[in-house]
Amino acid sequence: MAIYGEDIYTEPADLDLDTLANLGPLTALAGSFQGTRGLDVNPKPEGPRKQAFIETIELEPIDPQANGPQLYYGLRYHAHVVKPGEVETYHDQVGYWLWEPKTGTIIQTLTIPRGQTALAIGRASQDATSFELVAKRGETGNGICSGPFLEEAFTTLEYRIRVTIGAAGTWSYDEDTIMQVRGLKEPFHHTDRNTLSKTAEPLPNPLARAKP
Ligand code: HEM
Repeated sequence: MAIYGEDIYTEPADLDLDTLANLGPLTALAGSFQGTRGLDVNPKPEGPRKQAFIETIELEPIDPQANGPQLYYGLRYHAHVVKPGEVETYHDQVGYWLWEPKTGTIIQTLTIPRGQTALAIGRASQDATSFELVAKRGETGNGICSGPFLEEAFTTLEYRIRVTIGAAGTWSYDEDTIMQVRGLKEPFHHTDRNTLSKTAEPLPNPLARAKP
């Protein structure tokens, strides 16, 4: 790819090691958050079921990550969701949010314990306050990979997330996971949304913490 030059091995020199100062449009996502007004719409045999949920999410700055000449700054996250007043996990998700300053690319990786993983891609400006990422079944660059049961019974066609940065310390997301559910004629829109408020500031990434 012309943008990275011929040399695919040499890493950028003189990097800024402080991830928190280089997260571009992901800056407001760093830290610990809670959202008490989540809404999920999920597939049930009798039709779409709506469910309120409570979410905690931690997003921790990671050290700058180079793939040869390519450079990402990012956050490692864990989201945990319960129904109001319950302990049992209702949804769990881990992954990374990545920002590539050179190309204005944002990546979200997500893995959920249903046996499913996806990599969604979008683009944004350095100071964007809203951005959208998409993953599609069958794509090799921004795809969705499901275990055999889900692939057969809840074939996931597309995943889309729009993030909007709100007033100080808040951000929201709106997700649409489109799946072809066995027995249904039309694709099902499994949607989720929440607004998250900061409960703790992030720690700097390990290399930034170690700086004298
Ligand atoms: C806050 C976010 C989310 C919540 C609260 C949530 C919750 C749920 C719930 C309650 C079900 C139905 C479970 C059942 O009846 O067995 C479900 C189904 C499903 N979800 Fe999610 N989900 C979320 C996000 C996602 C995402 C991001 C994906 C994938 C990109 C995903 C993929 C699926 C699939 C494939 C199913 C169908 C399997 C099944 O119904 O057992 N979900 N989700």
